[in-house]
Amino acid sequence: MEHIELDVENIKTSVSEGELDNIQSEVNRIHDELERGLTPGSGYLGWMHQPSRLTGEVIDRIKGEAEGIREDADAFVVIGIGGSYLGAKAAIEFLHHTFSNQLSKEDRGSPEIYFAGLNLSSDYLQDLMDLLEGKSVYLNVISKSGTTTEPAVAFRVLKRYLEERYGAEGARKRIFVTTDKDSGALREMANKEGYSSLEIPANIGGRYSVLTPVGLLPVAVSGTDIVEVIEGARDCESVSSIGDLRSNPAYLYAAIRNLLYLKGLHVEILAVFNPSLRYLAEWWKQLAGESEGKDGRGIYPASVEFTTDLHSMGQWIQDGRRMVFETFLTLKETAKDITIPHVEDDTDGLNYIAGRSLDYVNDKAYVGVRTAHLDGGVPNMTIELKDRSPYSIGQLFYFFEKAIAVSGRLMKINPFDQPGVEHYKRNMFSLLGKPGFSDG
Ligand code: PA5
Repeated sequence: MEHIELDVENIKTSVSEGELDNIQSEVNRIHDELERGLTPGSGYLGWMHQPSRLTGEVIDRIKGEAEGIREDADAFVVIGIGGSYLGAKAAIEFLHHTFSNQLSKEDRGSPEIYFAGLNLSSDYLQDLMDLLEGKSVYLNVISKSGTTTEPAVAFRVLKRYLEERYGAEGARKRIFVTTDKDSGALREMANKEGYSSLEIPANIGGRYSVLTPVGLLPVAVSGTDIVEVIEGARDCESVSSIGDLRSNPAYLYAAIRNLLYLKGLHVEILAVFNPSLRYLAEWWKQLAGESEGKDGRGIYPASVEFTTDLHSMGQWIQDGRRMVFETFLTLKETAKDITIPHVEDDTDGLNYIAGRSLDYVNDKAYVGVRTAHLDGGVPNMTIELKDRSPYSIGQLFYFFEKAIAVSGRLMKINPFDQPGVEHYKRNMFSLLGKPGFSDG
């Protein structure tokens, strides 16, 4: 795939070519099942052809709304939880300056972007409102169901905050809703209040929704050309529609993680070597964890950020209980380049790498780690992304969506539901005295 390379060299001692040959027929069956919509959760397969089916009309609408917000907003607050915020957060962190919100508006060229409704913390929400004082604020409240407690509570509070600052009419113009076309309390509010609203296709679940207005509006507000993101995803959609796992990296990745799982490696650690990928790992954890962790099965998805975590979790990965495999997510080209200076007295002893870039050293750390971990009994593979471009992240989003769907089916799991998430909600609602939920 143009911007994604999957390196499986360090798996070869654990997974044989014969095992890959043997799993191919099961992959074929799942491929067919997904293409024909015959899988459990078949009502939620809209993500499969979402990139190629996104119409120019929808894209223009998203771009138009984003332009309007960008012209007047100093701060743009995205309200959502789980699949309704992680994709946008991952893309924005990946594509922009590490300290974007701290730059001047002129240097950033877009509003500051904040996220709310992803927790139930007064401290977080009040601190955010303190920070918003004096700024021109716009909100994008995102919820597929329109009834999720965390974003609903944050929206109620932030809506009141906007009304106090701008009056009811002024607030209304600053609120953008992304939700289901027909159902849910948020849709009802959008219709009643006349908020500008974008639709989440009914057949796409939260964690598969980054390539809908859920992810695309915030990304467009951040100043990214969403057409490039979509093009990357479209190209990945096309490559990922090949059944042969040796020609389709998403299927190869899915097959290998399943074969490793069957050998007792029940934890996959996604290790990134660049902080810009931190939230991509968070997004991946949700996608993998919520899709596969059910019926007493599923790979536990964990993540680390190297080299930082080599000084904490590195010890465990090298020498701890042998139940993990690793997937490195690396960047071929970074956006900036710092060269280590030469110093005459060389007191810190670093002259042996003077003249080298930080990324060169980071790369050697990666090569050293992958070999060390393999030696320590942790098979690993690498997904190498070409660069920090919108096209690359579009490819990567689709790559993981397809891979995790196939992987979940290889485990005979419905990757598109999340029944376990409801359990805590019932308890919480009962404790809060929500009508319709008895004590218990
Ligand atoms: O993947 C999922 O379906 C969930 O993680 C949801 O994205 C999350 O619970 C938020 O749901 P909603 O968008 O309905 O508020």
